[in-house]
Amino acid sequence: MEELGSVAWPPEPIRTERLVLRASETRDRAAFIELLASPQVHTYLGGPRPRDELERELPEAPERWPGSFVVELDGSMIGQVLLRRATGHRRPAATGKADLGYLFLPRAWGSGYAAEACAAALDWLAGALPGEPVVLTTQSANVASMRLAAKLGFTEVERFEAWGAEQWLGMRASS
Ligand SMILES: CC(C)(COP(=O)(O)OP(=O)(O)OC[C@H]1O[C@@H](n2cnc3c(N)ncnc32)[C@H](O)[C@@H]1OP(=O)(O)O)[C@@H](O)C(=O)NCCC(=O)NCCS
Repeated sequence: MEELGSVAWPPEPIRTERLVLRASETRDRAAFIELLASPQVHTYLGGPRPRDELERELPEAPERWPGSFVVELDGSMIGQVLLRRATGHRRPAATGKADLGYLFLPRAWGSGYAAEACAAALDWLAGALPGEPVVLTTQSANVASMRLAAKLGFTEVERFEAWGAEQWLGMRASS
């Protein structure tokens, strides 16, 4: 996975009905550690990273690269939306395409925040790199993620086995 390519970054903060999407800042570090060390968040993502390793190794402003959005609710980070370039993807249908990922803190699940944030990030992408389709890979057992993908307009390209589980590859035409 690589960065998207030539997009203006950091962007002006994007405001939705309830959220703000923006580049990462130093004040997000604790929330990033919480997110990346959470076993619940990483149930379908190959397991969390050890908290002490994150405390040691995470940069002051973690994950600050073009396409990595911190999602903020009432002034605090609740999740991350990632738009990258799927350069090394296992499936030819996805290789080189823009790729959507999302991770939210469990306390923010079940309120539609991920859907609201991802829709805004996809709109941003459509403005920054017009006409690009977007792919998304998730374990098919990850029911919440599958529901979110469908809600965002992704449709199935194929299913495949990888990392010890069935994976779902979806694609969405440019909005
Ligand atoms: C995948 C993930 C982001 C989904 O989060 P989510 O909160 O379930 O997703 P949404 O934002 O779409 O919210 C949907 C739920 O909010 C509910 N909701 C409540 N208020 C709502 C509102 N105002 N608007 C929309 N939905 C609302 C919906 O009914 C829905 O609940 P349901 O699934 O029980 O029907 C979250 O489970 C997560 O971070 N998982 C760990 C990371 C991961 O596995 N990522 C996938 C790899 S790319």
